[in-house]
Amino acid sequence: MKSLTISSAIAEQVEQILALDQLCFGGIWSKDGYLREIDSPNASLHLLWLRDEMTKEEKSPAPKLIGVGCMWSIVDEAHITLLGIHPQYQRQGLGMLMLNSLLQEAKKRKLHHATLEVKTSNIKAIQLYEKFGFQVAGTRKNYYPKTGDDAAILWLNRLDQTDFQLKLDDYWQQISDRLKNRYSILLPKR
Ligand SMILES: CC(C)(COP(=O)(O)OP(=O)(O)OC[C@H]1O[C@@H](n2cnc3c(N)ncnc32)[C@H](O)[C@@H]1OP(=O)(O)O)[C@@H](O)C(=O)NCCC(=O)NCCS
Repeated sequence: MKSLTISSAIAEQVEQILALDQLCFGGIWSKDGYLREIDSPNASLHLLWLRDEMTKEEKSPAPKLIGVGCMWSIVDEAHITLLGIHPQYQRQGLGMLMLNSLLQEAKKRKLHHATLEVKTSNIKAIQLYEKFGFQVAGTRKNYYPKTGDDAAILWLNRLDQTDFQLKLDDYWQQISDRLKNRYSILLPKR
C-alpha cells in the first residue's frame, strides 16, 4: 500500500517545493521566500509525502511531494498562508489532512485563533475551511494585486478550548477513515 507522511520542510527540499508550488499555485512564492519560512521560528511549513509500494527491484522508492501547507504564528493567532495539494491527488481528503496538521501545530503552539485570506472565487478552498469551522468574517477588496480579486477573510476561534482538541481528533478519524483504503498514514515526522 502507498504511504503518506507529513514532515516539516528543510532547505534541501526547496526545489521540490518550488515544483509543487508551480503546479498548485502557478508560482506564488520564490525560492528565497520558502527558505525564509524554513528558517523562521514563527513559521511552520509542512510537507505531505507519498511513498509508493516497494517493488522487488527497488528497495526504497523516493517519496513524492504532493502537498504543502504553511502557518505563521503571530501573537496568539495562527495565520494560514498556504495550502496546496498536487492536482493529481486532489479531492481525496488530503487537503483536510494538511489543514488538520496545521491546526494541530497551532494547538501545540498554544494559539487561540486561526485566520487566513482566500480568493472569494475559490469555493473549493472555502468549503474545505468551512468543514473545520472557519467562518467568513469579511472581505478585502482588490486584495490580489495581479488579478484584482477580492479576498474573503476566514476566522476560527477558540483553538485553546478543550472541545477544539476533541474536534481535531474527530476530523482526524474522518480523514483516516476516508484515506485508509488507499494509503497507510504514518505518524508525522516533525
Ligand atoms: C483547495 C485544495 C487545497 C483542496 O485540497 P483537496 O485535497 O482537493 O481537498 P479535500 O479532498 O480534502 O476536500 C475537502 C473538502 O473541500 C471541498 N472541496 C475540495 N475540492 C473541491 C471541488 N473540486 N469542488 C467542490 N468542493 C471541493 C469539499 O467540501 C471537500 O469535501 P468532500 O470531498 O467531502 O466534498 C486544493 O484544491 C488545491 O490545492 N487547490 C489549489 C491551491 C489553492 O487554491 N489553495 C487554497 C488557497 S491557499
